[in-house]
Amino acid sequence: MEINMELTDKHIVLGVTGGVAAYKAATLLRRLIGAGGEVQVVMTAAATRFVTPVTFQALSGKPVFVDMWDDRIVDNMAHIELSRRADAILVAPATADFLAKTAQGQADDLLSTLALARNCPLLVAPAMNRQMWENPATRRNVELLRRDGVICLGPDAGAQACGEEGDGRMREPEALLESIIDFFAPKLLAGKKLLLTAGPTFEAIDPVRGITNLSSGHMGYAVARAARQAGAEVTLISGPVALSAPQDVTRVSVQSALEMHAEVMRRVTDADIFVAVAAVADYRVERISPQKLKKATGGLPEIHFVENPDILAEVAALPNPPFCVGFAAESEHLETYARQKRARKNIPLIVGNLIQEAFGGADNRVILFDDAGSHPLLVASKNQIARQLIEHIASLMEKK
Ligand code: CTP
Repeated sequence: MEINMELTDKHIVLGVTGGVAAYKAATLLRRLIGAGGEVQVVMTAAATRFVTPVTFQALSGKPVFVDMWDDRIVDNMAHIELSRRADAILVAPATADFLAKTAQGQADDLLSTLALARNCPLLVAPAMNRQMWENPATRRNVELLRRDGVICLGPDAGAQACGEEGDGRMREPEALLESIIDFFAPKLLAGKKLLLTAGPTFEAIDPVRGITNLSSGHMGYAVARAARQAGAEVTLISGPVALSAPQDVTRVSVQSALEMHAEVMRRVTDADIFVAVAAVADYRVERISPQKLKKATGGLPEIHFVENPDILAEVAALPNPPFCVGFAAESEHLETYARQKRARKNIPLIVGNLIQEAFGGADNRVILFDDAGSHPLLVASKNQIARQLIEHIASLMEKK
């Protein structure tokens, strides 16, 4: 069975209006299609002065519409025909003029007519010069649009094409894609607070040396992202990784298991769900040398280890624990070890995977173990595995 991509079966009208940021709409279009979306591009006449329709046509593999009177559409009812199948209209970039027209319900070209005649949500990504954005007329128009239920994504602050600095830059295509995916994702964990650990821990020996586990953090970050998409408020306690925090997730960076433990315990009473994805070092060096250790002249150095706290087991043993989920990365006997770990840590759900398959591969094979038995997930990317896991957590929590 094939697993859906995040925008599979979603029909999106991408409206492009006449601003310098129109060139970024080409990247956005690629990202939307890359996530499985069906995208129909509609441009204003002014937008075609910045980027030609041919670009969008080539990228979307579909004709691009600009004109109300385009006779490629039967009955000349483009405004009805193009929005009929749409699940959302996304206008990026949205100029001050487009916002003004839409706020007033004016419809003097194809895109503004589509916006007025729609029966689906409208999302806009404003892009304009800082002064245009700050103008009271624009502020009023944006407020009116918000009141009418239009979703306003951005703008961001930063350097502008006109040479100024400030609010008004179009939000970057990757961030807009995240917002669209969030918008469509079922809110299975709405109102829930989810705390999660990810990445490795690093246990220092001296100022320049230490021991650690192999963990990229990708799985944990994917779970954090999927939980946020499902509407949860997510706090991610992360060991050292080379990843940027997922959008709208609070990240707390730590190094050692003791730091991770402290940050988790500080926040856990607030959490409804705790997911321990981190590859926590089981042991730490008893005494970290404040100075760099020198190579011993006679014999090998001796390093004494002490045990680190088991964060997951400790959280699960709290008097009123959150719903706890563990991970078991094993090199053999996956089923036996994962079941034993679940029982030993006294948690309702554990995610098992074989490490030979976990490292490097794009496709991940994981099995969930809970009270009802084992549930193999569909082989998929880490993001898709994370989504399936969140669905399973939500269904178990519903039954509680
Ligand atoms: N875990 C934790 N704190 C630790 C060790 C592990 O929170 N000090 C969590 C991990 O995040 C994971 C689960 O416990 O969700 C399983 O961790 P693992 O290290 O594989 O289990 P261990 O009990 O340490 O067993 P072993 O190392 O023998 O496989």
